[in-house]
Amino acid sequence: MTLASFITSLFLLTYILAQKILLTNDDGWAATNIRATYHKLKEAGHDVLMVAPVSQRSGWGGKFDVPPSNTLETDGEFGYVKAGDPAWGHEVNDDHIWYFDGTPASCIAFAINYIEPFFFKNATSKFDLAVAGPNEGTNMSPSTFTLSGTIGATYNAIYRGIPGVAFSGSNTNNSFFKDYLDLSNTNSPPTIYANLVVDFVEALFKSQGDQPHALPLGTGMNVNFPPVGTEDPRCCDPKFVSARLTGAYARAYDLQYNATSDLVEWSENISHRGNFACHNGDCSLPTEDYVLAHTTCQSSVSVFSTDYDANLQLSQSAFKLLEHLK
Ligand SMILES: *[C@@H]1O[C@H](CO)[C@@H](O)[C@H](O)[C@H]1NC(C)=O
Ligand SMILES: *[C@@H]1O[C@H](CO)[C@@H](O)[C@H](O)[C@H]1NC(C)=O
Ligand SMILES: *[C@@H]1O[C@H](CO)[C@@H](O)[C@H](O)[C@H]1NC(C)=O
Ligand SMILES: *[C@@H]1O[C@H](CO)[C@@H](O)[C@H](O)[C@H]1NC(C)=O
Repeated sequence: MTLASFITSLFLLTYILAQKILLTNDDGWAATNIRATYHKLKEAGHDVLMVAPVSQRSGWGGKFDVPPSNTLETDGEFGYVKAGDPAWGHEVNDDHIWYFDGTPASCIAFAINYIEPFFFKNATSKFDLAVAGPNEGTNMSPSTFTLSGTIGATYNAIYRGIPGVAFSGSNTNNSFFKDYLDLSNTNSPPTIYANLVVDFVEALFKSQGDQPHALPLGTGMNVNFPPVGTEDPRCCDPKFVSARLTGAYARAYDLQYNATSDLVEWSENISHRGNFACHNGDCSLPTEDYVLAHTTCQSSVSVFSTDYDANLQLSQSAFKLLEHLK
């Protein structure tokens, strides 16, 4: 290799590796998983802007809330910011780590519509990728797709033309980064997940090559990590495997009446037939639920599209009703 081509390839490498990433979650800006991921993505050389809800917004799906006032009405998650503080702001020592009194979906909009143009005075800046998570708990199947705030943030980025990937971990504890962040501990689940996010997004950028977008317009990915490290000492480096959202074992939320407590309780049900329908993609792939529940030390990777229209055959069949409407 000549010196010139060596320098060119170094430049290309840097160009491929340094990408502009918008990071959010639904567990709140003070959660350990997202803080670990912020630091690992930066360490890998990316330009990361983190904008996440000030409080826990799990299960809020794509709901789009704006702050009811310009100050917080209640303390933020873990009391890290307090009632009366501004409704949005950043870490004192890092203006790339923001909270916002909104939902994951509106955090995406706040970053793009406000922080970039007004705070950083850069209306032309474009994010190469939106990363949501890693969530504290898995997000699998169509039932969760619409319910999860992690996925809600992801599809809201995708609507805006930014490729999005939702990551979810199997560590369900809602932990405060001030207590649990340990970037050098290779057994800590948030640290392991953060390194896996870096591996995944770098593979995505490499496969992008010179295409303008890392994923085709209107496309996103959903990644679920198995228990790792202190949660499963046998698993420290799970393999990524292809999966799909619908099919056998796809979980649905359900409820059960409990006569003893006279309460209606949450349950999960893997027999909801609508979740088994395969109209798109590779029907022979295992579901995310299958990979996480019935294989060992593997991360599921599914691909979805926000073209929620049914395919031609399905829509033509449904549109037959129009013949009966005068
Ligand atoms: C604005 O963003 C663009 C694209 O990310 C970048 O090339 C440029 O340097 C930024 N300008 C400033 C003033 O930060
Ligand atoms: C879960 O997180 C909370 C809040 O940070 C902490 O008090 C608790 O000890 C954690 N539990 C586990 C099992 O990590
Ligand atoms: C029903 O409620 C009782 C009382 O709270 C509880 O002990 C029991 O585990 C519940 N049953 C089921 C199936 O969840
Ligand atoms: C799951 O849902 C099916 C109907 O889709 C129902 O027949 C069955 O009783 C439910 N199972 C549980 C455990 O709730």
